[in-house]
Amino acid sequence: MTTQTLAFNDGCLDLIDQTRLPSELVTLRCENVDQTFDAIQRLVVRGAPAIGIAAAYGVCLARRADGTRSRQSYFDAIEHLAKSRPTAVNLFWALDRMKAIVDSVDDDDTLSDRLLREATAIHDEDRQMCRDIGRHGAELLGDCHRVLTHCNAGGLATSMWGTALAPIYHLHDAGHTIEVFADETRPLLQGARLTAWELSQAGVPVTVLTDSMSGSLLRSGQIDAVIVGADRIAANGDAANKIGTYPLAVLARYHRVPFYVAAPSSTFDPALASGDLIPIEQRGRDEVANPHGVKLVPDAANVINPAFDVTPADLITAIITERGTVMEPSREKLANLLGW
Ligand code: MRU
Repeated sequence: MTTQTLAFNDGCLDLIDQTRLPSELVTLRCENVDQTFDAIQRLVVRGAPAIGIAAAYGVCLARRADGTRSRQSYFDAIEHLAKSRPTAVNLFWALDRMKAIVDSVDDDDTLSDRLLREATAIHDEDRQMCRDIGRHGAELLGDCHRVLTHCNAGGLATSMWGTALAPIYHLHDAGHTIEVFADETRPLLQGARLTAWELSQAGVPVTVLTDSMSGSLLRSGQIDAVIVGADRIAANGDAANKIGTYPLAVLARYHRVPFYVAAPSSTFDPALASGDLIPIEQRGRDEVANPHGVKLVPDAANVINPAFDVTPADLITAIITERGTVMEPSREKLANLLGW
């Protein structure tokens, strides 16, 4: 995965427009906070780590109405961007880091440089995080050749390589035979559109299945492991991820297939005792009822569209972080590894 998911160029935030993939590879340029907010909310940029990086750069775009910068405009930007999406805690983690800079730098002349340095550091750390998760995850997946994933937790969801896909890129690069089965991931099809696109670009064999096919694939012994990302992990290891992850974990347990979650330390929320407390984003009717302008549901029918579900920790074989792996995650083991 060598495509740049996002980059800060000429004082602007350039994003691969993920709503247009795989039909077109185009870049969307954000020149201000409102455009960044809109890009996060519309999933032009999506995936927990990428949302955090984009929001951090978004703060750097803050200006007053007259075009000048001020401390207050940065605070306003942070407050506004925090309302873009509720579930991925990486958004709030990144904005908290940016706020700490605004709070601590007294000299207004150097503030904008310090903010850009912080956003760049968040971006750089993300690359290293992906590499480290790739390395740790490859140790677990070393005997696996057929891996199932859900949604997109790859390079498009981070700065590069991803979380769940990082071990796959690592093994593929090392010459290990590995193929990926990608759930299409209704309703926005991140698996079919994005995971299949980026793996094909990298030459990793990938097969797309509709979400309802995973059970029979697991039952027939065609899958060696399931690996997914996460948007927020509670202190006890319960993990929120794209809707459809939880039923996949139940199926994996029933069929005795290991179920791995790969996520950086910035995806953990130790303030939440369990996954029941994770806020779940509810998205609009049209994503389910009218995808791409095609009417699939009669007007009289109600639609529900929660974007995420929560997988209880006891269904998770291991959580892979950049700092190492926790088998059979519990609050105590996670606190030990992550230093809470
Ligand atoms: O709604 P999305 O596309 O932002 O959801 C993304 C996911 O659920 C990913 O699996 C998660 O953010 C992990 S990305 C490394």
